[in-house]
Amino acid sequence: MAQLWGGRFAKPCDEEVYNFNQSLGFDKRLYKCDITGSIAHATMLGKQGIISSEESDKIVTELKKILEELENGTLVFDDTQEDIHSFVEATLINRIGDAGKKLHTGRSRNDQVALDMRLYTRDYIDKLILEVHNLLKAIYDIMKDNLHTYMPAFTHLQKAQPTTLAHYMGAYFEMFSRDKDRLKSIRERMNYCPLGSGALCGTTYNLDREFVANALGFNGPTLNSMDSVSDRDYLIELLNALSLIMMHLSRLSEEMIIFNTNEYRFIEMDDSFSTGSSIMPQKKNPDIAELVRGKSGRVYGSLMSMLTTMKALPLAYNKDMQEDKEISFDAMDTVLSSVHIYSLMLPTITFNKERMAASAMMGFTNATDAADYLVNKGVPFRDAHGIIGKLVLLCEEKKCSIEDLSLDELKNISECFETDVYDAISLKECVNKRLTIGAPGIEAMEEVLKTYALKEDL
Ligand code: ARG
Repeated sequence: MAQLWGGRFAKPCDEEVYNFNQSLGFDKRLYKCDITGSIAHATMLGKQGIISSEESDKIVTELKKILEELENGTLVFDDTQEDIHSFVEATLINRIGDAGKKLHTGRSRNDQVALDMRLYTRDYIDKLILEVHNLLKAIYDIMKDNLHTYMPAFTHLQKAQPTTLAHYMGAYFEMFSRDKDRLKSIRERMNYCPLGSGALCGTTYNLDREFVANALGFNGPTLNSMDSVSDRDYLIELLNALSLIMMHLSRLSEEMIIFNTNEYRFIEMDDSFSTGSSIMPQKKNPDIAELVRGKSGRVYGSLMSMLTTMKALPLAYNKDMQEDKEISFDAMDTVLSSVHIYSLMLPTITFNKERMAASAMMGFTNATDAADYLVNKGVPFRDAHGIIGKLVLLCEEKKCSIEDLSLDELKNISECFETDVYDAISLKECVNKRLTIGAPGIEAMEEVLKTYALKEDL
């Protein structure tokens, strides 16, 4: 049990209080960000003549060693330190003495932790963008190979119109592409350096904040020192973006689970991505999709926790903010691994093309096209809708599809039907006539694929 702040206390901290208060257990993962920030700070202190250049060099050299030793495991976190900032500083002082004691000049743990979390979050966003990119690539590959793979599209989970697998997967491509854009814009907005804000009101030392911001790859320093130490908006924005990613993955999971059921059998999950039952020998369960769907709940929970933690916090730093770490780290880990596992799983799924096409033909998915056929023959759409409704009723009685009716039966309901109706309502025609931008027709899809490849560098 060791603190950086013992001077004004007459008694040591109660052990249980210390344990309740400590954060090293979970903020140790910030070690690299903490040391990187300290190196930039010490370099700047030396450059500004606030400490001597020998002291600055000594600090920087030792910090680099500490980082290396933490990475290779020769230095271990000692849980007598209350947080990662104290751990790094105490280790430094222990090794180089007085020079180490000067590192914290013109700095507070408030701007230090604000910096560390931003550095960590920025790195995380970069990693996640790569994972989302891989997911987009997996989806794109399925699209490219399945421009002619027919399947039913649903509204209310009832068959609605025929489409293609490429078109269906394209909907998810759009969602994850928006997610990627959202991550990029959060990164851009948060990329300002809080270090140099001190505890909350800046400092009297002649710090070069521009230099530190630049050294750490930020667009510039933040402009209000109170906001700098108490802003966690970027985490809330990130948790919102993470929640949306999980919502998209959860919708995809739900569909994969449904399509994988014995009833649908549109897809077959690879054995390597499925699990069995301990009692029912025949079972092959889509656990990965179910887990991802389930994990969306805890990511939404993180968003709500963070919003609630920040609500009504007075300016500036309050210890409540230490809670940001466990909340955010849990959501970050969950989303990174969920996106990753999905980008590995998608290419292993087998699509049962015959069954999907057969299903697309049943259930009157060509009813809209049959109505459109009549419109092209001059029947007003509303009348055509009524005529086809009657046809569907007749088919239901006869237990057949529209294309199974004879021309006479069709003509009985409307004189406008000709022999060309059968072609017009065939599965292939129904899909390929849909050439509006964003529709499943082959040429429309090919255009969209070109745009996607360009936008996402695929
Ligand atoms: N462990 C603290 C946190 O994560 C570091 C900041 C401590 N600042 C303070 N004034 N107690 O928020």
